[in-house]
This record gives sequence, structure tokens and C-alpha cells, in this order.
Amino acid sequence: MNLILFGAPGAGKGTQSSLLIERHGMTQISTGDLFRAAIKGQTDLGKKAQEYMDKGQLVPDSIVIGMVEEVLAKGLKSFILDGFPRTVAQAEALEELLKKMNISIGKAIFLEVPMGILMDRLTGRRVCKSCGTVYHVASKPPKMEGKCDVCGGEVVQRNDDKADVIETRLKTYHEFTSPLKEFYKKSGKYVEVDGNRDTEEVYKEIDKIIK
Ligand code: AP5
Repeated sequence: MNLILFGAPGAGKGTQSSLLIERHGMTQISTGDLFRAAIKGQTDLGKKAQEYMDKGQLVPDSIVIGMVEEVLAKGLKSFILDGFPRTVAQAEALEELLKKMNISIGKAIFLEVPMGILMDRLTGRRVCKSCGTVYHVASKPPKMEGKCDVCGGEVVQRNDDKADVIETRLKTYHEFTSPLKEFYKKSGKYVEVDGNRDTEEVYKEIDKIIK
């Protein structure tokens, strides 16, 4: 089954996607990760995306949609769209793309987490610079401070996980991404999952949904 996983910044989309990759062999299409890889590679796309990401703003729809189209054209078997779509315009463009490519989405899963919790999750998040493994200073620290348990890479804070940028990201989410709930309710694919629980409990519910 192909899935859309959406929710506010810090809702746990990346964390749950990692579990779905590990346990269901799914492929994650994370637009945030694709942009971060482009920034690392210093490509033109990366330079453009960085201007927006560092301010906590959305990268323009035209750039994002083209990038997702390229990935979907690879004919992935069972994928999770993580962080895309993020605007109603992106959701409409996705519908067109899926129709053209004869691909269907099984469920659009919304991870619900109260705003008060998100700030703590985001300010405390740390990521491995090399393999992208996600940590949290309090709830999931690496065994050795600053060093990734998986690959030994350097564990750092994301540029956009600074308090002032997080505020903009959360505002942007409310304005542009939150309306997607109505969009997917109308399509009959919407499922809401309480994301404010232990990671494994959240996963169990998603696992049930996809089975
Ligand atoms: P992106 O990378 O997609 O960031 P985001 O949507 O803001 O989501 P995050 O990665 O911050 O959070 P997450 O939900 O994956 O949470 P995580 O699992 O890491 O996008 C970054 C930027 O790229 C955007 O701001 C924008 O500029 C641009 N962009 C990307 N896509 C775009 C698009 N479609 N259109 C336009 N622009 C786009 O968890 C967070 C923390 O919480 C971690 O520390 C984790 O350990 C912890 N945690 C997770 N689950 C739990 C749990 N159940 N209990 C306790 N702690 C938990």
C-alpha cells in the first residue's frame, strides 16, 4: 500500500517512516530529506531550497512538485510520502500525477500531536549528519554524546530546529498544511492517529491501518 503521512513539524513522520521502512520494506519519499541532500550536494535545487528552509518557509510548489514527479516516475512499489503534499495546491497536483502514472494511495494518515509538545520535540531533536538517524536529547539520546549509534557519524542540530525558525514552521503549518485534513477527509482516505504516545504504540496503530 502507498501512504501519505502528514502532520505538523515534529509530529513523528520521519520516525514512523523509518519503522515502516525497517519492518515493511517500504520506501520513504521525504521532500525535506531530498532538499537536505540537494543542499549537501550544493546543487542549484539545494541552493534555492535552502533560502526558504532556513527561514522556516515552504519551498515554492513548482519546485517541490517537479522533484516529486521525478521520484514517482521511478515506479516505486510501496512508498510513504513524508512531508508531501504540504499545501492544497500540492495535493491537487499529486492527484493529477497519480492519475497520469496510474498509481493509487491507500491512506492519508494524519499524526495528531498537541502544539505544546512539538516545540520540545523539535528543539531537542538531533540528527546524524551522515545517515540521518533521528535522536532526541532527552527521550532518545545517542549512546555517546554527539556520535551516531548506527554509523558513528556526527550528531547535530538541524539548522531549522532553532526556536525562532520553529515558530515560523509551526505558523506555516497552520496556514498551509492543516487544510489538507479537510482535503483528505473528502477523498475518504483520511485516518487520524494520536501521535502523542510512545513511538511503538503509534507504530502499532499505523501497522494495523496498513494491514
Ligand atoms: P521536513 O524535513 O519535512 O520537516 P517537517 O515537516 O517540519 O517535519 P520534521 O522533519 O521536522 O518532523 P517529523 O514529523 O519528521 O518528526 P521526527 O520523526 O523527526 O521539511 C523541512 C523543510 O523543507 C520545510 O520547513 C520546508 O521548508 C521544506 N519542505 C519540505 N517539504 C516541503 C513541501 N512539500 N513543500 C514545501 N516545502 C517543503 O520527530 C521529531 C522529534 O521528536 C525527534 O527528536 C524524535 O525522536 C521525537 N519523536 C518522534 N516521535 C516521538 C514520539 N512518539 N514520542 C516522543 N518523541 C518522539
